[in-house]
Amino acid sequence: MTRIVATTPFPDQRPGTSGLRKKVSVFQTPNYVENFVQSVFDCLEGFQGQTLVVGGDGRYHNREAIQAILRIAAANGFGRVLVGRGGVLSTPAVSALIRSTGAFGGIILSASHNPGGPHGDFGIKYNIGNGGPAPEKITEAVFARSKVIDRYKIVDAPDIDLDRLGTVKLGDASVEIVDCVANYQALMETLFDFARIRKLFAGGFTMRFDAMSAATGPYAKAILEGALGAAPGTVINGEPLPDFGGHHPDPNLVHAKHLYDLAMGPSAPDLCAASDGDGDRNLIIGRQAFVTPSDSLAILAANAHLAPGYRKGIAGIARSMPTSAAADRVAAKLGIPVFETPTGWKFFGNLLDAGMVTICGEESAGTGSNHVREKDGLWAVLLWLDIIAARGQGVKAIQDEHWAAYGRNYYTRHDYEEVDADGANALVEGLRRLIPSLPGRRFGSRDVARADDFSYRDPVDDSEATRQGIRVIFSDGARIVYRLSGTGTAGATLRVYIESFEGDVARQHADTQAALADLVTLSHALGEIERYTGRDQPTVIT
Ligand code: G1P
Ligand code: ZN
Repeated sequence: MTRIVATTPFPDQRPGTSGLRKKVSVFQTPNYVENFVQSVFDCLEGFQGQTLVVGGDGRYHNREAIQAILRIAAANGFGRVLVGRGGVLSTPAVSALIRSTGAFGGIILSASHNPGGPHGDFGIKYNIGNGGPAPEKITEAVFARSKVIDRYKIVDAPDIDLDRLGTVKLGDASVEIVDCVANYQALMETLFDFARIRKLFAGGFTMRFDAMSAATGPYAKAILEGALGAAPGTVINGEPLPDFGGHHPDPNLVHAKHLYDLAMGPSAPDLCAASDGDGDRNLIIGRQAFVTPSDSLAILAANAHLAPGYRKGIAGIARSMPTSAAADRVAAKLGIPVFETPTGWKFFGNLLDAGMVTICGEESAGTGSNHVREKDGLWAVLLWLDIIAARGQGVKAIQDEHWAAYGRNYYTRHDYEEVDADGANALVEGLRRLIPSLPGRRFGSRDVARADDFSYRDPVDDSEATRQGIRVIFSDGARIVYRLSGTGTAGATLRVYIESFEGDVARQHADTQAALADLVTLSHALGEIERYTGRDQPTVIT
């Protein structure tokens, strides 16, 4: 039944910020999925007879990839494989399932917020037994292995019916098709006061949640409209579709602009929210109140104790380096540590495992806690709802009070997408050369306090990550950060993160872009963006 198939390596299987991500057509190349998955298993030890969790965001090629993964997992000796019905599991639900079943690890099929369909993107990511993305030590080993792989093991068997709940045999392994929502919902019920949120909705609270035709649809429908009694129609685009209905499942101000317009308009519901392709990101907009992900992290951290799961308080906060320092101010007030990590959720895993932090977040619409080892879109929405219910205030009032108490970190990210990769690398090299000359220099009203290429030493295992982004830090707390995306599939994407701080509520500006205008201009000049990329404008501003 088990066959050993000879193969030749693909040189491009290096996992990026969140796994291996390529165009669908690349994953359709014969042996491409098989090689990568076998390379992962070749780098793991001790999984014989153990459990593997497999699920994806339902995008095009999800089912085909899962059938191959099941056969390879069985051939390599996994004892049990748990698969979400229809092959769908949100990324946080995979993490939850790995943890609650004591699985050895999991495989997630997703390209997150990137477009789907036959011409879109696909991705494969391996998660370890704590439920989180494999650390760099493993992903680098997988890449090295993929470059020399010459065979994979596979069980010859017909396709498994992914839509029928229950257990079937595949070689010596058993494959269990499980309900995708139940386990995740049970976890949410331990964290939040569902009765209190139910009362909020029963009292007339209105909400619109856009699942963007992706993985969170079934979760949002079951939890918001089902368990919590939100009005039918609260969840829109709630059916996962292989091409996400032709939309880009990215809950940002470009692809979820309709939600922003709704929230700012005359018939705004109390809360507008959305999640991305695989359900790990979140967008939060109150009536007339957009909440940046960096502010959301800070506000959730400041109020988490109101939710039952965090009643005893939080141990610490971690944020990725480009995320604004708003959360640092909350940590300072609470007297708890804050950790600044490189971009990518995998850097939070050790801190969470060690109990050093409870809440984590990234400026890229990712927020989460120690309940899983991934960011979790619906979790963030539920925590907001629980805080709104507990405080008896709307999003705007909560945010305004937060800014008055802690000051406001203006924040924006400018993305220059699909620029020429050589130009983007040269831009970063240019900045590296500039670093030593920057400290002490004055630009407008600001002095540069520090400039560096961010590096991080993990306080738990001492591993080091270098070259994680160029930081220019001013003495008044303002910052400009430059880094190249690790998740794109075409050319390079330059991300420029711009931040400043205003402590005095009377001087806080309503318009973020206006408040940051001088720093934006400076970001162009310092990085010589137009010279290196040929662009004088970003493609996306968030
Ligand atoms: C982007 C985000 C990063 C996030 C990652 C995966 O990575 O910036 O915060 O962890 O997607 O969702 P990037 O493309 O910047 O490497
Ligand atoms: Zn995602």
